[in-house]
Amino acid sequence: MNKKIEKLLSELTLEEKAGLCSGKDFWRSKAVERLGIPSIMVSDGPSGLRTQNENGKDENDSRVSVSFPSGCATASSFDRELLKREGEILGEEANNYNVSTLLGPAINIKRSPLCGRNFEYLSEDPYISGELGAAYINGVQSKNVGTSLKHFAANNQETNRFSESGMIDERTLREIYLAGFEACVKKSSPATIMCSYNAINGELSSENKWLLNDVLREDWGYKGMVVSDWGAVYNRVKGIKAGLNLEMPYSGGLTDNDIVEAVKNGTLTMEELDKSVSCVLEWVFNYVENKQAGTYDMDKDHEESGKIAQESCVLLKNENKVLPLSKRQKVLFVGAFAAEPRYGGGGSSKIKCYKLTDALTAAKNARISVEYAQGYGKDFITSDKKLAAAAVKAAAEADKVVIFAGLPESFESEGADRTSLDMPAAQNELIEKLAAVNKNVIVVLHNGSPVAMPWVDKVSAILECYLGGEDIGTAQINLLYGKANPCGKLAETFPIRLEDTPCFMNFPGNGRETYYTEGIFVGYRWYDCRKMPVLFPFGHGLSYTKFEYKDIKLSSSSIKDKAGLDVFVTIKNKGKMEGKEIVQLYVADKTGVEIRPVKELKGFEKVFLKAGEEKTVKISLDQRSFAYWNKDTHSWYAPSGEYEILVGASSADIRLSAKLNVTSSSGKAFNITPQTTMGDMLKVKEMAKLIAKDYKKACAIMDNVTDEEFEKKFPFPKVAMLGMIQSAPFRTRRGKDGLNTFEDIQKYVDELNEKLK
Ligand code: BGC
Repeated sequence: MNKKIEKLLSELTLEEKAGLCSGKDFWRSKAVERLGIPSIMVSDGPSGLRTQNENGKDENDSRVSVSFPSGCATASSFDRELLKREGEILGEEANNYNVSTLLGPAINIKRSPLCGRNFEYLSEDPYISGELGAAYINGVQSKNVGTSLKHFAANNQETNRFSESGMIDERTLREIYLAGFEACVKKSSPATIMCSYNAINGELSSENKWLLNDVLREDWGYKGMVVSDWGAVYNRVKGIKAGLNLEMPYSGGLTDNDIVEAVKNGTLTMEELDKSVSCVLEWVFNYVENKQAGTYDMDKDHEESGKIAQESCVLLKNENKVLPLSKRQKVLFVGAFAAEPRYGGGGSSKIKCYKLTDALTAAKNARISVEYAQGYGKDFITSDKKLAAAAVKAAAEADKVVIFAGLPESFESEGADRTSLDMPAAQNELIEKLAAVNKNVIVVLHNGSPVAMPWVDKVSAILECYLGGEDIGTAQINLLYGKANPCGKLAETFPIRLEDTPCFMNFPGNGRETYYTEGIFVGYRWYDCRKMPVLFPFGHGLSYTKFEYKDIKLSSSSIKDKAGLDVFVTIKNKGKMEGKEIVQLYVADKTGVEIRPVKELKGFEKVFLKAGEEKTVKISLDQRSFAYWNKDTHSWYAPSGEYEILVGASSADIRLSAKLNVTSSSGKAFNITPQTTMGDMLKVKEMAKLIAKDYKKACAIMDNVTDEEFEKKFPFPKVAMLGMIQSAPFRTRRGKDGLNTFEDIQKYVDELNEKLK
């Protein structure tokens, strides 16, 4: 704590301190004028500034600003630099409007494709969420504007989001739902972290000491401020004790009084309160004392938004090279989305955008002439026989047909989950009809999360644009006409059916408790293990050029876990057009020590290559790349043994692999107890050594005996005997080898544990 804050703490009254722990209004912190503590303002985020007008009438009375592609889109860029750039622009805009803190990024894991807020979130994979979330934060904060990493944690559904409790085991939390937050904290020190509305294992996040203190501050070393999601607070005093520093928005004074009362009656100490107040003050003064001037050139930022979109769209399918289009072809655009694209999501990230460039206008700007038929209702939902017939007639006469389709806002938004993967029937039917009269149908999608595609085999190409921000039309035209080469890849799996999804049985749960029974098997981790077909796999995305992967090299074929490893691969652009490839590195644990996914993403790089060019890409791994959360030792553990390094163009398109041997710095895969079996011990190299002699002795019964002789003596085969030896827990040794009492057994296992330290 710095001197200034120490001094202020000694001068503030109890009431003033309590007051500083909640907002002044919807968007501002409280001032204490007599001591020179100013009030500062925050704004939503994450994909544009939603700053409320001074004296704004209502929550939605916000300033016009530039809308950038939503998280679902930018994550598909797999581009750290791009996310950083977006952050820098938003930071500059924020400075212009005196916004101290941008409420984002939102990096909750996409547990189900139905979550209403998936459009804002980045990925089903925590590694991507952490890498890209940190890049965005570093960008914003380079302008001395704070961020609010949200929603901490496990806000994976909108159904009953204020109250439901995610019932999640610690390993799943650490590996899947917390790991992205952890990476952001460690790589980018967000000025604030916003706690989620929901509870975790029965404890509201806003009161959860394990989450806000033990994990966030003690394990990860977080030093910033924790703010509540808007209205997430119930028991304010418990929250202060747990580590929730600022309650937002204005609490009406009720909770400030609770704090005062609690200090007076001794249930809250002044020291506990001071901790919270000092976090708030540090946040306030960090901003005001280092504030930078902001520039805000909306036209320039509009263009930047289009460039980001261009790097983010994903070419899902392109048969017979139907794309790119040529100006010489007779092209028909169909669909209301061509004239009015859905550029962003609904709820707190809703932006009143500066200007919207749709695909029709962008085509005109590029002097490309296309025909247009609306095809379906302007509400994107209603079918209209006349409109459909006109579109089909025009399609029959066109060389190529591009239908702009997707989800209307009423289908996905903050506040409610979707109930199906379906797009409006009017659009699906129209796509089928167009495909029946023209073999070159291209579908351009506007959606915040995966949709079912009953027509997938009938169309030639699909360009996934997600919610691409206000200049999406320009990006679409550049990509469709080959002025730019698609270079995004999916940061989530597109399933075939809702019933295939990992949490189908438990999403959104009964409303009170949501059991995460799928555990760590979220997204591709699930589909891979189940060997299930999917519509489009995680990491998938095509280009107009072809990339060759060759020459995988490891810095060493055998490493100590803490030493780390460099992986090199060479990527060559074999086509005629320049382009970017997203190289993905997955690690597969072959040791068999713990239940693990088939493979997990642990590195990626996006590489730009001119036609014919090749480059060597280096991806560095560390202990965490190999580790799982060891619930017994409460630490990250990479067991000794064999791993495979897999490098590919998607999770389903592995091009190169190499074997690696890892030696663990700890041999302790679990706590040994009287219930531990020899079989458990045998799986772990270091533990197996401890019982090698005893195991040999136990197996001696089968030595020099043929299977036949053995079966004469025993009513079961040798393999069953082996199974029984391996599954005998240490407690069964009571009465043998001098281990007569419970204490003897306990001492024996204690000694084994000691040897592993
Ligand atoms: C949302 C947050 C948002 C806040 C302020 C909440 O309802 O969950 O993401 O930042 O409102 O608008």
